[in-house]
Amino acid sequence: MSAEPLPVEEDRSAYAGVLRFYELAKHQEWAVRDVPWGELPPVPEGKGSPERRARRNDVWRSVVMQQLQADVLACEMAAQLLNAAPDPEARLYYSTMVQDESRHTEAWLKLIGGLGGEGERDPHLDALGHMFLEADTLEEKVFLMQVFFERLIIPRFRLIARSSRGTVLEDLCNRLAIDDGIHHGAGMAYERVLLTDAPQTVKRQLIDAANRMLPEFAAHALWRPKAREMIGHLMEARDRERLKTELNHGVRLAKSLGLDVSEVQIPF
Ligand SMILES: [Fe+2]
Ligand SMILES: [Fe+2]
Repeated sequence: MSAEPLPVEEDRSAYAGVLRFYELAKHQEWAVRDVPWGELPPVPEGKGSPERRARRNDVWRSVVMQQLQADVLACEMAAQLLNAAPDPEARLYYSTMVQDESRHTEAWLKLIGGLGGEGERDPHLDALGHMFLEADTLEEKVFLMQVFFERLIIPRFRLIARSSRGTVLEDLCNRLAIDDGIHHGAGMAYERVLLTDAPQTVKRQLIDAANRMLPEFAAHALWRPKAREMIGHLMEARDRERLKTELNHGVRLAKSLGLDVSEVQIPF
């Protein structure tokens, strides 16, 4: 009598990197109640006349609104990734990312509630959201959201944190910079696995996607709602320089995934 052949243990070592980010995400997990609500002012308090202070409040409200809008979109994107990813390690990881984006949204909603409620939407952010949600392949979704967007957004959090010392806003930006660092790292690890055996056509699609996304991201980064138009003009030259550095970094990341980036165009 011959014994049943034992099932061959599948080699999952390629997914160890993704699993590591799952563990990191669990370790870094925080709760909205950990934020020092009520202990710190929500945003920097303005000085001077009531009109001046109201104007300052509008500026901060528009900053928070842009982040809220981004995180509501991120909820939908993370949920799509969780549904689309076939690999158990990635699904486990994405279940934490859905929770992160949802927690970020909850915190922004609480913060903006005390600043007069939601304001003007950034049309470029909506366009970026659509680009991602309508992307055809998992490779393209991971690439657009985690390789690019999550990475490009981190310096913005640092910038906002620097100009809002001692506030709830600063505390949130620091938490989100760490979380998005994990989202980006996990995406790099997973994309590397996904691209190992991907045909040239898929890689080609990613370059096309980058060329569609980068100009829209640039427009998003430079967009100012009415409340910030004045400051916007003053900062534009510096913003452009900084943005160029960030976009070039994005292209280097794509290159490190083995993509031929010679046809990626930086929109400047
Ligand atoms: Fe987020
Ligand atoms: Fe994120």
